[in-house]
Formats: sequence, structure tokens, C-alpha cells
Amino acid sequence: MSCRIVVLISGSGTNLQALIDDLAEQPALASIVGVVANKVDAYGLQRAAAAGIATRVLNHRDFSDREGFDHALQHEIDAFEPDLVLLAGFMRILTAQFVRHFRGRLLNIHPSLLPKHKGLQTHQRALDEGDAEHGATVHFVTEELDGGPLILQGRIKIASDDDASSLAAQVQQLEYRLFPLVTRWYAAGRLHLDEDRACLDGSPITASGLRLEDLESGI
Ligand code: GRF
Repeated sequence: MSCRIVVLISGSGTNLQALIDDLAEQPALASIVGVVANKVDAYGLQRAAAAGIATRVLNHRDFSDREGFDHALQHEIDAFEPDLVLLAGFMRILTAQFVRHFRGRLLNIHPSLLPKHKGLQTHQRALDEGDAEHGATVHFVTEELDGGPLILQGRIKIASDDDASSLAAQVQQLEYRLFPLVTRWYAAGRLHLDEDRACLDGSPITASGLRLEDLESGI
């Protein structure tokens, strides 16, 4: 049966678009059944509508506390009966209760080589710390912010003339390859969260995650 996916967004939704485009080639494998945004002007909502995907908006400012928002969000997501929930630029910290509810079927994409640079401003921080390389990571979401088991990383070399916006552009191009690939693994039943380890095809993934460049060179 096709894997039912809900995508959460806060903004432009270019990662959502990459997922829509990729899964359009694989309708029997997976389909995005709903997109939920916490901002009414999130451009990704228009991308979803253009693709014929149901959308919901839940404004966090309408709630007096994080628990209330997350409870309502969980309710909206559950109504789609998803097998997988993707955080694709969803700029909200989620409560432990929410994360536990979706444990093992909640993935995030983060614009750094985790565990380096959790949180925001990752491109500038990579420059400020003199990092030689930078990239993006897809991981299972657990209660620790940007701290769940790593699945797949893609990396770029930082050049002397890079700035935060040139890094952002390169990292985003990586993201558009990483997230659809991991989503396909999950939808095909190849990817699981086993205790605190991500497993692909029944084997634990190393704590630092798989590397996109190794997969592409056939290692
Ligand atoms: C991505 O870079 C993602 O890693 C970060 O937010 C950005 C979302 O961009 N968390 P978009 O909305 O997918 O265009």
C-alpha cells in the first residue's frame, strides 16, 4: 500500500516541492496526503494546492501555549492517518509529547552536518567556526532538538569566498536530493527507528549517518 505522508512547513516549501516532484514518479510507493503550515502566508501552501494536495493552517499565535498548539497540530496530522510525517522547514520546537506520539515516523531535514550546528543560523556558524565542510542531515526526530539518530548526510566543501547565502544555496541543492531519497527508503519499508538507532535494510546506520557521496560512488 502506498505510504501516506504529511509534510509540515513554515515557509517557501522548496523541500516540499522536491518531494512532490520526486514522488510524482512513484505514486504506488508514496503520496503526500496533506501539508500543514503554522503560517497562513507560507508559500509552500500554494505549491501543495497546485499539486492537488490538501492543506491545513494552524497558527501557533492562536494558542496560549506550546502544549495547546502541539495537541491541535497532532490532531490535524492524525486526521490524515499518515505513515510518515516530514518536517520540511517547520520552524517550531515540538513538545516531547508530540514527538513521542510520532516516534519512528517523524523525520527532519536540518541544514548542517549534525551534530554540529544544531538550531538556527547554521551557515554563518559554520563560517564563524572556520569549518572546512558543511552540509545537510536527515534524521529521526526524538525529544532532543536536532538530536535524533542520523540517517543521511550530504556535504560540500567551504570555499574561501563562500558567505552564508552561497552556503545556503548549495546546502539547499543537497537537501532536495537527501530528503526524497530517505523518504523513498522509508516508504519502501527499508528504514526504521530501532531503540535509539536508525536502521536501513535491517542494519544499524552508523551514529554519524550515511553519506550521500558514498552512496553515489557505490561504496
Ligand atoms: C531548509 O533549508 C531546511 O533545512 C530548514 O529550513 C529550510 C526550509 O526551506 N530547516 P524550504 O521551506 O523547504 O524552502
